[in-house]
Amino acid sequence: MAVKIGFVGCGGIANAHMNNLVKIPNAEMVAFSDIAMEKAEAAAEKFGGKAYGDYREMYEKAGLDAVYVCLPPFAHEDQELLAVQAGLNIFVEKPIALSMEKAREIEAAIAAAGVINCSAYHWRTHDTARWALEALEGETIGLVLGWWMGGLPGVMWWRQQDMSGGQILEQTTHIVDMARYIAGEVERVSAEMALRVMTDVEKISVPDVGTVNLRFESGAIGNITNSCIPPGWKNGLVIIGEKKTVIFDQFNFELRTPSGTETKTFQPIAAHFRESVLFVDAVEKQDQSLILSDYSNGVKSLAVSIAANESAASGQPVMLSDI
Ligand SMILES: NC(=O)c1ccc[n+]([C@@H]2O[C@H](COP(=O)([O-])OP(=O)(O)OC[C@H]3O[C@@H](n4cnc5c(N)ncnc54)[C@H](O)[C@@H]3O)[C@@H](O)[C@H]2O)c1
Repeated sequence: MAVKIGFVGCGGIANAHMNNLVKIPNAEMVAFSDIAMEKAEAAAEKFGGKAYGDYREMYEKAGLDAVYVCLPPFAHEDQELLAVQAGLNIFVEKPIALSMEKAREIEAAIAAAGVINCSAYHWRTHDTARWALEALEGETIGLVLGWWMGGLPGVMWWRQQDMSGGQILEQTTHIVDMARYIAGEVERVSAEMALRVMTDVEKISVPDVGTVNLRFESGAIGNITNSCIPPGWKNGLVIIGEKKTVIFDQFNFELRTPSGTETKTFQPIAAHFRESVLFVDAVEKQDQSLILSDYSNGVKSLAVSIAANESAASGQPVMLSDI
């Protein structure tokens, strides 16, 4: 029996997931909700199923097994709480919330409900990430460098700090998550951020440049730097270990050792597609171990970004244990 899926939020990333789910045989999209009813209707028209203006009504009436929550950071209210209380398995787009308070409230509700859960850090499903993890297994990591040089996303909420949390929380969170995936948990951060050149952009209140120094629990140190000044450049990481240096992004992987350099390219099957295959299989088999990023992992990556924003605001280092 196919896993019956509903959507909360039918915007950009939701449509990307829909285009993947329609190709996954054990998934069936049956319902779509959005406060902009026309978006829910457009999705229902395209993929089949019913449109709702209210997710509560969808939870009640649509006969769902699972829900994809694809909301901007500011919009997470009770969508996840009501879903898991109704026993629905849950896939939540990153960043999973705007505040630790909300993230922890949802995390506790998921734990109490015992449902299958995923926070959508799809970089974990890239071959390049797996190759990096495998190459560095057992290696003492010294330094982690990460960067996200994107442009400015088109949606208006993204450029407003109180709605998106800024680039480090909203977008560069993928790099934060990769840094944690490979180098372990972060102990302390210290950040600088500024709005330097995009001051004329309508409604902008996010910094357009930022840099975050990290100390990991292992003793490794790192830096993650981002900019949303167009046209952007690229994103990726360098991890420097004892005998191995790994350089990777979503598609390219390079391993440097004293005996030479190995390069590999990942020809995508999109990582988003794999992420949904794993989620749907996990729901069908009720096997949480198939999920590479559970909701609690999303809470940990969120904490690093929130610490960075607090440090940039105060000018002081922030301990993750205080977040
Ligand atoms: N994993 C990735 O690679 C990736 C890529 C893009 C976006 N995202 C994430 O997905 C989330 C959404 O981004 P997007 O680009 O799809 O944004 P979007 O603005 O295109 O879509 C958001 C949708 O949510 C709807 N919405 C807002 N509040 C709602 C509410 N209370 N109830 C129901 N619907 C509501 C909006 O009407 C809109 O249709 C963000 O957190 C973003 O970071 C992830």
